[in-house]
Amino acid sequence: MTAHDAVSIIGAKRDGGELSDAQIDWAIAAFTRGEMADEQMAALAMAIVLRGMNRRETARWTEAMLRSGRRLDFTDLPRPTVDKHSTGGVGDKITLPLAPLVAACGAAVPQLSGRGLGYTGGTLDKLESIPGWRADIGPDRMREILTDPAAGCVVCAAGADLAPADKRLYALRDTTGTVESIPLIAASIMSKKIAEGTAALVLDVKVGSGAFMRTREEAYALATAMVELGADAGVETVALLTAMDTPLGRTAGNALEVAEAVEVLAGGGPADVVELTVTLAREMVALAGLDADPAEALADGRAMDHWRAMIRAQGGDPAAPLPAAAHTETLSAPSSGILTRLDARGVGIAAWRLGAGRARQGDPVQAGAGIRLHAGPGDRVTAGQPLLTLHTDTPEAFPRAFEALAETITVDAESTGGPTRGPLVLDRIGPDRHRDHRWNPHRHSGHPPARSGLGTAHPHPHPAADHGGNSG
Ligand code: URA
Repeated sequence: MTAHDAVSIIGAKRDGGELSDAQIDWAIAAFTRGEMADEQMAALAMAIVLRGMNRRETARWTEAMLRSGRRLDFTDLPRPTVDKHSTGGVGDKITLPLAPLVAACGAAVPQLSGRGLGYTGGTLDKLESIPGWRADIGPDRMREILTDPAAGCVVCAAGADLAPADKRLYALRDTTGTVESIPLIAASIMSKKIAEGTAALVLDVKVGSGAFMRTREEAYALATAMVELGADAGVETVALLTAMDTPLGRTAGNALEVAEAVEVLAGGGPADVVELTVTLAREMVALAGLDADPAEALADGRAMDHWRAMIRAQGGDPAAPLPAAAHTETLSAPSSGILTRLDARGVGIAAWRLGAGRARQGDPVQAGAGIRLHAGPGDRVTAGQPLLTLHTDTPEAFPRAFEALAETITVDAESTGGPTRGPLVLDRIGPDRHRDHRWNPHRHSGHPPARSGLGTAHPHPHPAADHGGNSG
């Protein structure tokens, strides 16, 4: 095929046609080699946003992106491999306690992760706040750490040779209004996850104001597409849909979140972070075919031992004090009553403006910047009591951060209390690629089952955590 064929491929999709395997293979390979121009790929991406792709096309697109680079292989490790991917949310530090917890249960966790862009943080940015810790370690060192029974888990940056087509395509989609396509998002995420060489995968698809997917319907569609792609590639995949209307835990920001993750590993920490960590760990341990209880491995300190070994193996000092921001300011409760709403998106944007996140790839982030929450939805608060503490090294950032928080908090004087936070785990899509109706959310989350009020099927992309990588 030639550059001329690009025009007919674009035209075919523009007119609602199905792309053949050969057309998809050619387009991805030619784009990666620089033979298909950016404007042609942008036009094709827009045609896909508008016309969609069916399951075969999406699987082939994913395979072609996977083939554009290297696929890691850990099948010879003595332990089963299993990983988790989150679509990104505010305060989502779950990877930090989860990877060592699952390693403590006997699995190997090879996690390639991303730096943050925009208001949901990136796992690598969080870990980089630990003095000495390095994300760029390469596949050989990755294998050594996974083989070491004391660690057994690694969280690191994806090399340039992993799904390079996705790296180029994602950057192009980001600047051409073509992120909003479930097949393209699913293929982008899964090509990277399949390339990292895990045998099994648990997806945490976030739903709500602080998430990439605002409605259950769109999150369900994305989760189903990704579970199907995993199955097609021989990676056993399960997806949980989890709530992201309010931040996870009580911190948003890099070092603040590391400290909270360490609290969880020490047996404390916020109940929602503990619940989600243990729920995802149970799924991962089951997929890995292991008979171990993650709650026990958390309680008896084994997960903490694996955390320390993982941090040391990547050059970090797990005992070193974490960086703290030079300046803090407090936001107080505007009135007395029940805190009925603490919106994830507002908190995420404020933390980002304080310096916890970056606006452009390559910008530095502040390790100590972010927000600590002193109350959560459902708590009774008194007028004037501190609700949030804002942390930054750049105090000129405070006014814009307070602006972002203006519509974030609702205190209801009339409310009689009671739960204002719904269930954390909303749904599960099993490896049979369908909702697992036998699954009982009560058992996992301790909350009643979610209502199924569904909205539109258009994702609301924001500068998400996992551009060019996996948020983890
Ligand atoms: N994250 C990705 O890695 N790819 C997308 O397309 C969207 C979010």
